[in-house]
Amino acid sequence: MLAVAVMMMTVVGAWAGPARERQLKPCPDGFSAVVVGGKQDCVCAEYHVYWPRTGLCYPEFTRGPCGPGQQLVANETGHAECRSVVLVDK
Ligand SMILES: *[C@@H]1O[C@H](CO)[C@@H](O)[C@H](O)[C@H]1NC(C)=O
Repeated sequence: MLAVAVMMMTVVGAWAGPARERQLKPCPDGFSAVVVGGKQDCVCAEYHVYWPRTGLCYPEFTRGPCGPGQQLVANETGHAECRSVVLVDK
């Protein structure tokens, strides 16, 4: 009886490993996968900022969803903002 219990635990243990380390679900472009409390989430990748209007992450200091002549930056509170790029003549 004890031998059966040990065998069961061994089998369960063998399955628990790969299940825990299984491939993370791919996140959309600009996101990276994180595991919080055993649950996977997608957050903005490094140097990316979240733009709530589209629900997407864009690389900082690129135009992203901004208009022409603007670029996306994170302001003092970490929120994405479109700022006009100061164009240098010549
Ligand atoms: C930062 O951007 C957010 C979203 O556009 C805005 O609500 C907030 O007032 C801004 N904060 C500062 C310090 O500019």
